[in-house]
Amino acid sequence: MPLLVSPSVLNCNLGQLSAEISLVEGVADMIHLDVMDNHFVPNLTFGLPVVASVIEQTSLRADIHLMIDDPDRWAPAYADAGAYSVTFHIEACRDPVSLAQNIRMAGARSAAALKPATDLMSIESLLPHLDMILIMTVEPGFGGQPFMRDMLPKIRQAREISGADMWIEVDGGISAENILECRDAGANVFVAGSSVYRSADPAVEVERLSNLIDSS
Ligand code: DX5
Ligand code: ZN
Repeated sequence: MPLLVSPSVLNCNLGQLSAEISLVEGVADMIHLDVMDNHFVPNLTFGLPVVASVIEQTSLRADIHLMIDDPDRWAPAYADAGAYSVTFHIEACRDPVSLAQNIRMAGARSAAALKPATDLMSIESLLPHLDMILIMTVEPGFGGQPFMRDMLPKIRQAREISGADMWIEVDGGISAENILECRDAGANVFVAGSSVYRSADPAVEVERLSNLIDSS
């Protein structure tokens, strides 16, 4: 199981998105792009044209986190644009099995995200169609919030019900303070937004997180 750091650009300087992403190129394992529509969450970021342009300009694998209504309609287009992984929220979709299949057919890894209050069992029948489960460790919508330590049992439970091959991503408040707790609970993909982009040197911080998760 690979252990991967996926920096989130939500709190970087979005006016210089490409330059900000290139700061972690060659160091990060993926780049996490938060698509928000001001409906599913009370915040608005960017959509498909910006994501497609980023994918063309970076060598990093694009880890797309859709915090939008109606992902059934929009998610496959992100896979078509070359995303490595497309994550939809289980709370927002109508037909999760078809959606997960459509994402895979379009060539990306399919993933479902759960808000903190959403029961893990809501994705039980979907597991055969998923490559990754995203456990939110903050309420989705904003970067810079504190890590919800009470999500650790949910990470453990996700690992238990999904088996050894499923990737489990954690997103929200992840930093050097808590990344090992998340790894030890069973997560293998670590989104880090403000801990990376609000540090003095994003590449150094990514390297620090990578070294931590690779340590015993
Ligand atoms: C929040 C987003 C996260 C966020 C992470 O809704 O999904 O990806 O950018 O930022 P930090 O690491 O600051 O919580
Ligand atoms: Zn995210």
